[in-house]
This record gives sequence, structure tokens and C-alpha cells, in this order.
Amino acid sequence: MIPQSFVQDLLNRLDIVDVVDRYVPLKKAGANYVACCPFHSEKSPSFSVSPTKQFYHCFGCGAHGSAIGFVMEHQGLGFVETVEELARSVGLTVPKEESGRQEYKAVVGLDALTEAMQHATHYYRDELKRSEGAIAYLKKRGLSGEIAARFGVGYAPGGWQNLATVFSDYQAKPLVQAGLVIEGDEGKRYDRFRDRIMFPILNQKGAVIGFGGRVLGTGEPKYLNSPETPLFEKGRELYGLFQARQAIRAAGKVIVVEGYMDVVALAQHGVEYAVATLGTATTPVHIQKLLRQSDNIVFCFDGDTAGRKAAWRALENSLALVGDEKSIKFLFLPQGEDPDSYIRKEGKAAFEALLEGAMPMSEFLLRELAAGVDMQTMEGRAHFLKLAQPLAQQVAAPALRLMLRQRLAELAGVTRNELEGLIPVKSTVKPAATRMRSRPSRKPPSLARKLLQLLLFQPELGAEFDMSLLNNGSEELKTLSALLGLVADSHLQPTTTVALLERFRGTSHEALLSEVSGEILQWDEEFEVAEEFTGALDQLRDGGRNRRIDDLLALSRTRGLSMEEKQELQRLLQGGSASTKSGQFVRK
Ligand code: UTP
Ligand code: MN
Repeated sequence: MIPQSFVQDLLNRLDIVDVVDRYVPLKKAGANYVACCPFHSEKSPSFSVSPTKQFYHCFGCGAHGSAIGFVMEHQGLGFVETVEELARSVGLTVPKEESGRQEYKAVVGLDALTEAMQHATHYYRDELKRSEGAIAYLKKRGLSGEIAARFGVGYAPGGWQNLATVFSDYQAKPLVQAGLVIEGDEGKRYDRFRDRIMFPILNQKGAVIGFGGRVLGTGEPKYLNSPETPLFEKGRELYGLFQARQAIRAAGKVIVVEGYMDVVALAQHGVEYAVATLGTATTPVHIQKLLRQSDNIVFCFDGDTAGRKAAWRALENSLALVGDEKSIKFLFLPQGEDPDSYIRKEGKAAFEALLEGAMPMSEFLLRELAAGVDMQTMEGRAHFLKLAQPLAQQVAAPALRLMLRQRLAELAGVTRNELEGLIPVKSTVKPAATRMRSRPSRKPPSLARKLLQLLLFQPELGAEFDMSLLNNGSEELKTLSALLGLVADSHLQPTTTVALLERFRGTSHEALLSEVSGEILQWDEEFEVAEEFTGALDQLRDGGRNRRIDDLLALSRTRGLSMEEKQELQRLLQGGSASTKSGQFVRK
């Protein structure tokens, strides 16, 4: 664990303009710096970096964050690694907080881990050349030397301490921290990978961050993987992405498969745009990463129950992220086949024909839901709608959402209007990854929105805020109260815009805050933020009062008011600027 206070110090020391400029040359434009966005393809720059607020924001794709976030995204690095690297660039050393997890204690530095991984990769590769058994195994599975080399495939020989002959110090901490060596109960060490085919897992820079090791024949586990380490977070990484990047661009799509061997075998047969998750479910991070690479994702899973389950998880995590310009499809292979076995039997053309016919996400969703109920009965169709509700409400892409609802209504045998009653459209904010450029709207922002903007612009304003004003539930108000909660928490004290943005990364508030941060990017440092804020607060207070007055007046017309309610109304009406409407009523 890196202490939060250190992260704040680091952000204070860094200048995001310098950091970004190292990777993406920036041009000054007004108060900010701009460039063509490195996270999606575009011809005119919509990527802005604010030197005063120290965050970046893309009006095209919604990417946003701090200097740390930028380097993580751009270089495909993990948080720890990024902080290490940036700290080094400004001459800081990362302190380590006490943590329950042993591997994270006294991490020597990521360089040492990366170096150990690289060293091991070379060793395994050399060993492969010497092992007839391993070579025969790979040949039997149809792999050429060329493809094995492209993926850096190696072999870890049998024996408990081979790495002791490879590394000068077998007792060195990085070997354990990188997951290459396991320390037993009495401090006795042994190699994690023994007699296995080794598949190196690369990050987006091409550095080895982990391994998957397969037994040659049968044995348990079939694949042994590197543990999670400071270099390697399974939920963020995709096997084969580094090798596939160009092919993904050329093909205009990316296939996600389940296994290491699937990726390698597909490449062997000329389908080079495949990647695999690492034995874990598809995460939103995976999907966002893939959507940055391509507008078209095809998830290709086995046709068995486990495959359908995995596909369903991927679907659930995609609904909120997919935009109308994106396409996510699902391909289920015939029972008993995986991409590896299929392409070996049927060839590239047949496989690509299957890809063409993959099932669109919406169809998969409707089919799976309908399959679980009896659509012939009213009860079944009611159940169908009940199941569909949480999923339909997550879809953020406006056109897709509309069509999905039309279809849901048809299938359930209700009208669109009736459906709206049953499944109200949630005012979802489109997620960062897929939001497209929207024209600045002429409509003035809602009060809550304005408060959000002001608070994000100058977080310390939040200290004076009366939280009781925020008792009803628009998305903006919810985010506002979350923001305030954090500002008020004296322990955390995140008082900069960028600190707030970082704190909410990965939460349900992220998308809205991203949008709002874009809105304040052009704001001038000079204007009277505090006055605006008090003004907006007063309006919010009045708004709340007026609503309550209206409610009480409505009650007085229908059922009459209790004594207490009458007093409350009295109090409210005396409290200053009651609206004209209420005023007129009282005069009557
Ligand atoms: P599969 O068993 O489908 O792998 O597991 P595969 O690639 O088809 O294996 P081959 O063809 O028999 O060599 C899919 C993925 O699940 C993870 C691995 O990432 C594997 O590629 N897995 C599977 C493990 O991590 N451990 C295991 O024991 C099995
Ligand atoms: Mn397989």
C-alpha cells in the first residue's frame, strides 16, 4: 500500500503538462494545452490538459484524470508501478505503509521485479530450445517455432531450484515478490514453475509481468499462473494484447477468448487480433481497455455452461460501457470446441465466417432472459420484464437503449408507454469510455450541477455546506453529496480538483464528475467562485423550501393540515423569499 498522503505529495510535485508532454506533444490553447487524444483516434484535438487544475480531459472520448492516471492509461502500467516511476522522476522515494499482505512489505522497487521477470523469461526460452519433450508438445499442438518466438514461449524444467543457478542470489526478495519463487514454512525456497510450458504475460509496454505455466500432459493445475504482484493485476491485463495491437487496428476488431492456447493457436492460423483474459472474469477495466483499441469486440466463448456464464458476466460489465458507435458481440463455438481446436480443424476462413455471424449483445441478452422463463404465460413474461429491468437500465447508449426497450415491450406484449411505467429510464450519465463529443448545451445547468462544478473547481468551499439540503435523489445530487462527504472527512482532506477526481475513479460517480470536470476546464481562476457558491446554495435552500410549501399547500387543499403542519407552513412562509405562486395563494 502506498500512503494516500504520499500520492498527494507526488501530485503536488508533478506538473501534469510536463508529464503528458513527454508522451504526447502539447500545444498551448488559451488557458490550457491541447493535443489529439491518444486514447481514441481523431483528427482535431479534443484532448485538454489544465495546468491550473492539474488534470486532463478528452471531450471526445471522456478520458480524464491526473498525471498518475494518464501514465497508467497511456503506458498500460499498474498504479504502484506508475507511482514508482513518477516519484523517481521528481527525486522522491515511495514510502511503504504497513500492510497485511506480505509480498507488499518492503518492496524493493519495481525495477528489480521487472528485471527478475525478464531474466527468467530468457532462461525459460533457452530451456525450451533444449527440451525435446517440450518442443514435441508444442509441435503436437500445431505451433511453429516462429509463433512460439512471437509469444516468447518457454519451458521451465523439472526440479525444485533451477532458478538458483540462474540468479546470482536465490535468496533475493524480488524473486519471491515477482512470484517466481515460493518461500515455504521454514523459509525454504523453491521455484514456482516446474516442468511447465511457460507463456509470458506482457504489459502494454512489452515488459513481462507474469507467466502462465501449462503442464505438458495431464496434471493439476493445468495452468499455474503468477500470483498478483505489484507488477501484475489480473483484472487489468489481457494476454496477447501487446502482440495483437497492430492486427486489432488493421482488422477493426478484437476477439476475446478464454485461453492462452487459444490466442497462440489463432495467431498460428493468421487470426492475430485475439486476446485472452487470464482465467478471471472479464472486468470493466478489460472492456474499457479493449474499447480504446477497437470499436468492435467479439467475445468468443465455449458453448458449454461455463462459457455462457463467462459470456453473461462480460455482457453485464459491457452494458454501461458500450456506446452507439461500438459493437459488442458474442460467439459461441459448437459444444466441445474452443478457438484453438476449431481453427485447427476448420481453418481461418471458417473461423472468420463464424465471427461474422456472432450474436449481437442485445440478442444475447434477450435470448438468455427469455430462456429462463416461460414466455407463453403472463407470469413468465412478467418475470422476463423483472429480470430485464436492471440490465436495461444500465444501457447508456441512447439509440441502443431505445431499441432494446422497443423489443422488450414487443416480447412482453406491452406497449412502449406501459414499459416506461414498469422500467423507468434512469438518467444514466454515459460512462467515460464511450461518451462522444456533445455540443455545449445552451440550457443553464441545474442548481446541483452548478454546485458540483463550483465544488470541483474549489473543493474547500464544501466545508460550509449543509448536507441536509441534499435529501432527494437525482444523480447530480447523489454525486454532490458523495463529494461533500469526502471533503468534509477531515482525515482525507483532498482539497484539490485532481485529488477529488482520483478519489472517485472507478466509482459510480466517475462518469458524471468526468463530465463536470470538462465543463470547468475553461473556467477562469479569477472569478468569484465563493459568491457563486453561496448564491447557488441559497437557491437550493429556497428550492427545497418552496417544494415543501407547495406540498403543504396541496395537502391543505385535499385533506387539510395538522396543527404542526400549519405551523411549519407559517414558518416556511416567513422565512424570506417565498415564491410568487405560494405568496398569491396565501393572499387569497
Ligand atoms: P482452458 O482449460 O479452456 O484452457 O482454460 P485452454 O487454453 O483451452 O487450455 P489447453 O487448450 O488445454 O491448453 C482457459 C484459461 O483458464 C485459465 C487459463 O488462463 C486458461 O488459458 N486456467 C485454466 C487456469 O488459470 N488454470 C487452470 O488450471 C485452467
Ligand atoms: Mn484448449
